[in-house]
Amino acid sequence: MQIELKHIHKRFGPVHANNDINLTFRGGRIIGVLGENGAGKSTLMKILSGFQPMDSGEIWLDGSPVDYTGPQAAIGSGIGMLQQDPLDVPAFTVLENFIYGGGAGMLLPRKVATQQLRFMCARFGFELDSETPISHLSIGQRQQMEIIRLLTLGVKALILDEPTTGISAEQKQILFKALRELAANDGLTVLLVSHKLEDVIALCDEVAVLRAGKLVGTRDMPATTGQLVSLMFGQELAPQERHSALSPSAPVVMSFDKTQLRGGRVTVDLNLRIRAGEVIGLAGLDGSGQELALRACAGLVKPHHGQVMLQNRDVTGQSYRQFLAAGVAFSAAGRLEEGLVGGLTLTEHVALATETNTTINWARARRFCEEQLNRYNVRGRPESPIETLSGGNQQRMLMALMPQQPVVMALEQPTRGLDVDSARWIWQQLLTRRDTGSAILFSSPDLDELVTYSDRILVFYAGQIMEIPDATRTTIDELGRLIGGHFEEMPV
Ligand SMILES: Nc1ncnc2c1ncn2[C@@H]1O[C@H](COP(=O)(O)OP(=O)(O)OP(=O)(O)O)[C@@H](O)[C@H]1O
Ligand SMILES: [Mg+2]
Repeated sequence: MQIELKHIHKRFGPVHANNDINLTFRGGRIIGVLGENGAGKSTLMKILSGFQPMDSGEIWLDGSPVDYTGPQAAIGSGIGMLQQDPLDVPAFTVLENFIYGGGAGMLLPRKVATQQLRFMCARFGFELDSETPISHLSIGQRQQMEIIRLLTLGVKALILDEPTTGISAEQKQILFKALRELAANDGLTVLLVSHKLEDVIALCDEVAVLRAGKLVGTRDMPATTGQLVSLMFGQELAPQERHSALSPSAPVVMSFDKTQLRGGRVTVDLNLRIRAGEVIGLAGLDGSGQELALRACAGLVKPHHGQVMLQNRDVTGQSYRQFLAAGVAFSAAGRLEEGLVGGLTLTEHVALATETNTTINWARARRFCEEQLNRYNVRGRPESPIETLSGGNQQRMLMALMPQQPVVMALEQPTRGLDVDSARWIWQQLLTRRDTGSAILFSSPDLDELVTYSDRILVFYAGQIMEIPDATRTTIDELGRLIGGHFEEMPV
């Protein structure tokens, strides 16, 4: 389906999020939509898919103007979108979501729905069990479910907003294969919003780049990372160097002694000594145990056996609050599900994180909030509700809410959804804290990030752990093989 966007404008108060956007997307093509955090990508995609009204402008599909009033109508016109943060109903099973997700219209009988689901899963190699509650699915599986639902409803254009943040490398390959096939065989128009330039290079036929609400340009692929970065930021970025600042005599600040962690289908036996100023990367496919280890550091998962020491104090079995008070800072990958509270403003978040008294000093919270917004370069105002921030700015806000000098920072995917420049900036902030003695444990699906910033890497596979003691001596390829469970190839 050919999509034409003509003179699209959208303002949010003083922010001109889409400023006269003119673009044409042809059927059968995969188009990357790029741009720094807050550039206006999600806004444009939400307008196109009916989730948000535009102020002015026109959308033409296959040569005729359309005017739809909501996502269901957009789907009816052939345009479906996967949201940056999934919107499905967690209490439903996969099958129920599939049946009731069609909106008004007629409901599919269970049997037909089950068959359709099975057929689509087989076609794309998706692994979805129809009776599983959605809350038990990984982000990657939720996406698969949503793609199938939209295709069944007959969409001819599929919009994906950062679909690879938070999914495993395996699931990414399955997703990309499906998208290529849908574009090539079904003539689907695929729009991919992404900060992962390697994904854009692997998948897209062309790119459109936004900056501060305006279209900067379009170009056909192939292009190098450097060329894409120049388009996005107006300049190339200096190459990133690996660096380790760990002193061999740094004291142990936290230790796990013969601890056993259980969760989902994995059990992890963890023996770990974390030293001041150390950066430990946790690698692995989704659900391999790295999340458990990270959450055990924060007191969110309690060990079944063993002992956890924090700065020479036994903290085994203590609560998240107690861990926090003792100096452990945690940030969760699911921004709006866990770390941030939808409906609350930025100042209210700051008040929650910093004000310890029962009566909140709002003037102080607001002042501090302003300072933090400046320091962390968050595009938003103290009175903005958190959900009005762009994805990348929400992530910056999470960082801004972290305690200043924690003993240990446990971070799930700290740069999830950040543009290349912002991701580097966040790491600069983290490494500054590392340099004054904070230890950092972080998980990431991004192998490059693990290899660049870790002193050592723990690779998790089905609950087993393989340690790479010196991350500077491993490569992305080697790490990729270990994540796939090929532990026997481990170099000595
Ligand atoms: N509902 C809203 N209310 C107020 N401002 C908004 C709203 N939605 C978006 N904005 C603002 O519009 C601008 C563009 O946001 P948008 O989410 O489109 O950016 P983006 O390019 O998707 O960024 P990211 O890469 O961080 O996801 C940002 O300044 C954002 O704060
Ligand atoms: Mg966005």
